[in-house]
Amino acid sequence: MLYIGIDLGTSAVKLLLMDEQGKILNIISRAYPLEFPNPGWSQQNPADWRKAVLEGIPALLEGFDKEQVAGIGAGGQMHGLVVLDENDCIIRPAILWNDGRTAKQVDYLNEVVGKKRLSELTANIAFAGFTAPKLLWMKENEPELFARIKKVMLPKDYINYILTGVHCTDYSDASGMLLLDVANKCWSQEMLELCGLTEAQMPRLFESYEAVGTLLPEIAAQFGLPESVKVAAGAGDNAAAAVGTGTVGEGGCNISLGTSGTVFISAKNFRVDENNALHAFAHADGGYHLMGCMLSAASCNKWLMDDIFQTEDYAAEQAKIQEEKLGENHVYFLPYLMGERSPINDTNARGVFFGMTMDTSREDLTQAVLEGVAFAIRDSVEVAKKLGISIPQSKICGGGAKSPLWKKIMANVLNVSLQCVASEQGPGLGGAMLAMVACGAFASVEAACDKLVTVSETIFPEPALAARYEARYQQFRKIYPACKPLFVQTQGE
Ligand code: XUL
Repeated sequence: MLYIGIDLGTSAVKLLLMDEQGKILNIISRAYPLEFPNPGWSQQNPADWRKAVLEGIPALLEGFDKEQVAGIGAGGQMHGLVVLDENDCIIRPAILWNDGRTAKQVDYLNEVVGKKRLSELTANIAFAGFTAPKLLWMKENEPELFARIKKVMLPKDYINYILTGVHCTDYSDASGMLLLDVANKCWSQEMLELCGLTEAQMPRLFESYEAVGTLLPEIAAQFGLPESVKVAAGAGDNAAAAVGTGTVGEGGCNISLGTSGTVFISAKNFRVDENNALHAFAHADGGYHLMGCMLSAASCNKWLMDDIFQTEDYAAEQAKIQEEKLGENHVYFLPYLMGERSPINDTNARGVFFGMTMDTSREDLTQAVLEGVAFAIRDSVEVAKKLGISIPQSKICGGGAKSPLWKKIMANVLNVSLQCVASEQGPGLGGAMLAMVACGAFASVEAACDKLVTVSETIFPEPALAARYEARYQQFRKIYPACKPLFVQTQGE
C-alpha cells in the first residue's frame, strides 16, 4: 500500500509518497505567499494552502498506482488561527504562529486571568503566537468578523476538512491553542468562555493516529483515488517531525531547525514546567511532550543569505568559515527577528549583531547567525536541565540540519550528541507514518517508528570545542538582558 504525507509549512507545502516499508517514492513541494502586513505580524491565506494541496497531490501521484493509496496524514504549522463562517468559508487570513500582534491580549491573559490559572486550565501560559490571544485580538479589533465565526481550527485541520468534510483536530496541535485542557485531553470550558466561544465552534478532538474519515467523493474523483482512502487526524508539525525521527515514548529529544527552532522532549506521562517556559503539549504517539520554540531559526540564516548577502549558495558562504574560528567568533547575534517565544516570551525583542570591529568579515556574520540560533536553542535546553531532564543525545531535523557546519556548531554549543535519521523528511514523514497507523499497518506510533526509523549519522561534541563554546554561551546570555529595556523603548518603531 502507499501513504501520502503532508507537511503544511510556513513557506510551502511538501508532499511525499511512501510505501509500507517506509521507502519514499516521490516528493513535491508547492510554495505560497506569506504576508507581513505590519512589523511583527504574519499571516497567510488558507485558500493558498488548499490550492497547493489540491494541485500538489495529483502531481505527487503521477506515474504511481493510485489504487494502492490507503491513507493520508498531515503535520502542519501550529497555532495558526483559521476561522470559518456558517458556509465553511474562510472569514479572514490565518494569523500565524510567528505573529506578534497580540501583546496586549497576552498581557491580559497572563496578568489579569493570571499565569497560575491559565496553567491550571491548559498546562500553559499565553504566548503571542498561541491561538486564544488571537481570538481575543479578533474579538476586540474585528468584532463583525468575530461574530461570524462558526468554526475555529488550525492550519492542517483546514486541509483535513477540505479532504474529508470533517471539522477535526488532534491533541498535539490543539494543545497550542491555549483552549485545551492538555492533561485531560478535552476543551477547557473556562477558556472557551473567556474567549467568547462555545464548544460547538470547536473541531472534534482525535488522537493523531486515528482516522477522522475518508476522502469526500468529489475529492477522491478529483485525485483519481479510491473513496476508501483514510485521512489521519495528523499532528502539529513538531509532533509529526518527532514521529519522523522516532522521538516517541519516554525520554526522547528532537531538535528541529526549520523556520522555527524547537527542542522537543517526549514523555509517556503528562508533566508541566512549573515556570511554563517550555510548552506542555500532548504528543502524536498518545503521550505528551515539553517543547521550547524559538520563532526564527533557519529563517535567520535565510534572511542573511537571501535578503542581505543576496546569494542562493548557502554552502559556499559556510565553506569560508575556518575550522579554527569555531568557538572564537567575537561577533554575536540575537536571533529575535520576529520577537521571541521560548524561553524569554518577548514580542518586543529584535535581532542584534553585537561585537563587530573593523576586521569583522562577512563569514563572521554568517557564523554569528548560525551560532546565535544554537545559543538560543541552548536557552531552552537549559530550562529543561533545570527541570531535572538530562539530554545526553538528541535527534536533529529540519532544513538547517542539512548543513554539516551548523550541526557541528549545535552539537558543541549544546554539548550533546546529535543523531540524524535516514530519509529525514520532517513532518511529512511523520504524517505518512500516522496515516499508516490510522490504516492499521502498525498497532502503534512507537511500533511504526521501531520499524521505519534508522539513525544514519551521529555528530559527537568535541570536548575542547564544547569548552570554547561554553565560554561564548556565557557571554551570549548577557546580551539579551542588557538589550531588553531598549527593545521596550523602541517598540513599534
Ligand atoms: C511551535 C511553533 C512552530 C510552528 C512552525 O510551537 O510555533 O514550530 O509550528 O510551523
